[in-house]
Amino acid sequence: MTQRKGIVLAGGSGTRLYPLTMVVSKQLMPVYDKPMIYYPISILMLAGIREILVISTPHDLPMFRKLLGDGSQFGVSFEYAEQPRPEGLAQALIIGDDFLADSPSALILGDNVFYGNELEMTLAEADARREGATIFGYHVSDPKNYGVVDFDDDGKALSLEEKPTEPKSNFAVPGLYFYDERAPGFAKSQNPSSRGELEITDLNRTYLELDELAVELLGRGTAWLDTGSHENLASATDFVKVIERRQGLKIACLEEIGFYKGWIEKADIETAVKLHGSSPYGSYLGQLLKR
Ligand code: G1P
Repeated sequence: MTQRKGIVLAGGSGTRLYPLTMVVSKQLMPVYDKPMIYYPISILMLAGIREILVISTPHDLPMFRKLLGDGSQFGVSFEYAEQPRPEGLAQALIIGDDFLADSPSALILGDNVFYGNELEMTLAEADARREGATIFGYHVSDPKNYGVVDFDDDGKALSLEEKPTEPKSNFAVPGLYFYDERAPGFAKSQNPSSRGELEITDLNRTYLELDELAVELLGRGTAWLDTGSHENLASATDFVKVIERRQGLKIACLEEIGFYKGWIEKADIETAVKLHGSSPYGSYLGQLLKR
């Protein structure tokens, strides 16, 4: 079976987080104790994906490269590509076309934070589905701010709408999408929306119209956190802090995930411990060696 490849889109963060994001993209900013982009990368790794393309603006890409390197320290490989202008999420599939080279893909947005016990199983199921696309539905209080999916009585997806003024349901579509190898081709034949972007919701609607879209609900035991406003960003930090301090276990520690997956060795953790020095992240990595 062809390995699925991953794309993390960490594009422009817009003006909603100004002045925070005036010089640095928000995906480089912290959610508690690590950069935001660690969280979506952890999700791809938990899905078993090891070849990952990081897409960002020409301004920010060098910083992502500096932070993440070639990925070998986590047991994965990173490649990098620019999105010169914010021309839509679906454009990531076009930018990633050569990288994907006809492989199935998982696209995740660089500001999406997920947490939950069921996640790894849900991700494995989505990865196993090799024809069509899989997206997710998550009950939120403010669906207007997201792509929204509506279902019939049998739970079959009926419609997908991007930031509708009158949402047909409370189920938002998180920024994590699994596609078969046709996605770049579909994205290329898409027309830009009225705001001049290739909308991910339009790409997903192509699969819906072909009757090849699976929509999996993420249950209430799963957290999908938004980081798009100052309040939400602060809440995401609080959430991670509460869980990590209570459990003494970290969310989205990429070295830990790579280690437990068997993708890196003890010696790699030792190197990471030296790199992170006396920081709590470094001490945590040190404890991994003793477990
Ligand atoms: C994007 C998508 C939207 C999705 C959301 C998830 O919106 O367009 O469909 O629900 O990501 O984070 P954005 O928040 O980038 O405007």
